[in-house]
Amino acid sequence: MSISIKNESEISKMRIAGKLAAEVLEMIEPHVVPGITTNELDQICHNYIVNQQQAIPAPLNYRGFPKSICTSTNYTICHGIPSEKCLKKGDIVNIDITVIKDDYHGDTSKMFCVGTVSQHAKRLIDITKESLFLGIEQVKPGATFGDIGHAIQKHAEANRYSIVREFCGHGIGKNFHEDPHVMHFGKAGEGITIEAGMIFTIEPMLNIGKRHMKVLKDGWTAVTKDRSLSAQWEHTILVTPEGYEILTLRQEEK
Ligand code: MF3
Ligand code: CO
Ligand code: CO
Repeated sequence: MSISIKNESEISKMRIAGKLAAEVLEMIEPHVVPGITTNELDQICHNYIVNQQQAIPAPLNYRGFPKSICTSTNYTICHGIPSEKCLKKGDIVNIDITVIKDDYHGDTSKMFCVGTVSQHAKRLIDITKESLFLGIEQVKPGATFGDIGHAIQKHAEANRYSIVREFCGHGIGKNFHEDPHVMHFGKAGEGITIEAGMIFTIEPMLNIGKRHMKVLKDGWTAVTKDRSLSAQWEHTILVTPEGYEILTLRQEEK
């Protein structure tokens, strides 16, 4: 267990991989409409990553995952497998993109609303995004991973949402998943100290109901046990001497 500190040449490659992952989410947005299947979204992203970006979709064949992106709708927490099922008005869907460019990974996800969605779905999505950014704002050399988890947990629980505990953020670089585990709950001041040159994801998953999950028989799809709605947002973060840089920031967030 050791957390790598990236050098300038690795950081340059991570900036490129992060930007490409963000651009896939920007590209796919107009396609996320009622009637499209998640397989079609997968195919569009796959072709864009391979042909336009000349990059590799990291999920494809990763530990046996069968598709190039994850699509997690409604009560799916994460790792949803694209299928022939259509999106319909009122659905919420997380699209999680990881690309490999020049051996380095960029990992990011966002929530999309299909047509208009209920107020309670919208609120869950908004609070989950706020939780991610409150976590990101903790990042600077000398802070701890507990500070990140605490900021996320405080905001989620103040809004009466639960936090999924089985999945966490992760170091990232040449490998999809590296040390450390980045928890989305915790105590301020606890855990490993954050250092400049670390790169990791933060990717909180919040549920309207209870935090408990189960994995479907496909071995991947994680759903809420109580079938309550779940939302997730993810960014890849570089620790800079002053604080942080979001490597997967989209145009709409600048
Ligand atoms: N992108 C996910 C993450 O944020 C991992 C997906 S693993 C896969 O860590 F195999 F499902 F693609
Ligand atoms: Co991730
Ligand atoms: Co991801």
